[in-house]
Amino acid sequence: MSTAAGAPGIAPHLAPPGSPVLQADGVVMRFGGLTAVNRVSMTVHEGEIVGLIGPNGAGKTTFFNCLTGLYKPTDGEVRFAGTVLPPKPRAVVKAGMARTFQNIRLFGNMTALENVMVGRYCRTSSGALTSILRGPKFRREEEATRDKAQELLDFVGLGRSTELLARNLPYGDQRRLEIARALATEPQLVLLDEPTAGMNPLETRQASDLIFRIRDSGLAVVVIEHDMRFIFNLCDRVLCLVRGETLIEGTPGEVQSDPRVIEAYIGTGTELDELTEEGPAGAGADDSASSS
Ligand SMILES: Nc1ncnc2c1ncn2[C@@H]1O[C@H](COP(=O)(O)OP(=O)(O)OP(=O)(O)O)[C@@H](O)[C@H]1O
Ligand SMILES: [Mg+2]
Repeated sequence: MSTAAGAPGIAPHLAPPGSPVLQADGVVMRFGGLTAVNRVSMTVHEGEIVGLIGPNGAGKTTFFNCLTGLYKPTDGEVRFAGTVLPPKPRAVVKAGMARTFQNIRLFGNMTALENVMVGRYCRTSSGALTSILRGPKFRREEEATRDKAQELLDFVGLGRSTELLARNLPYGDQRRLEIARALATEPQLVLLDEPTAGMNPLETRQASDLIFRIRDSGLAVVVIEHDMRFIFNLCDRVLCLVRGETLIEGTPGEVQSDPRVIEAYIGTGTELDELTEEGPAGAGADDSASSS
């Protein structure tokens, strides 16, 4: 176990064999007098699933925003595949980092398929003129984009909802659609902000399977969640933020049994048995629920 605040990298016993995809070192984000993220470091390796937990307001989403170019950190450094990226979401996506949002951001009046196709456009080469003229190159690319989008909808379990408007999809399906759109950008790393919020237990289990399949396809994943069974069952490593600082980083077993983590969650509405249970988390996850 390691307390990783301010320390680059991770403890040797936690380091998996893949090379680092993301290296965030000493990230600070201040809003006026409020320090929302304070010297947080996180390294994510190829093929790894890393969990980011912490009570409401701990700074999890703000940290994601710093990683994905939505915010320029006040201090610290974020390297992706060894390179410091400009703090611009478009450049970050193009480099291979994709995300979903805590508050779902889909194009409600577009179909599920069209939403995924939008994600794909950062990888197509047709310029504005080709698109306006709709020549053979544009049509070929458009067809390939459509096929790939359909493939991704099948992958996330939405193959039958292709033509439905995003706003008419059930909440859980909208979250899966956001994941499909993120995958359409061909990322190396996906960051998921509360992917099971609002899902029922069956959907939550399906989301867990989906994230394992994403990892098995060769991607690294960072996931924010309040559902502790989900997190401890899913992740190779878990980092807990409290009031903007890293309280602990460790294996699910280490984090789950740390009294400081339990203390941080007292009074937040999170079921404490989710944090303290012996044995593999996820067993009997039927009664789990997001406390978001
Ligand atoms: N744009 C902003 N301007 C000012 N303060 C902000 C801004 N964004 C976040 N904050 C503040 O930063 C702190 C961390 O917020 P953040 O949304 O990152 O927490 P969180 O861990 O994601 O919480 P939750 O679990 O509720 O989603 C909070 O006090 C929040 O009010
Ligand atoms: Mg948040």
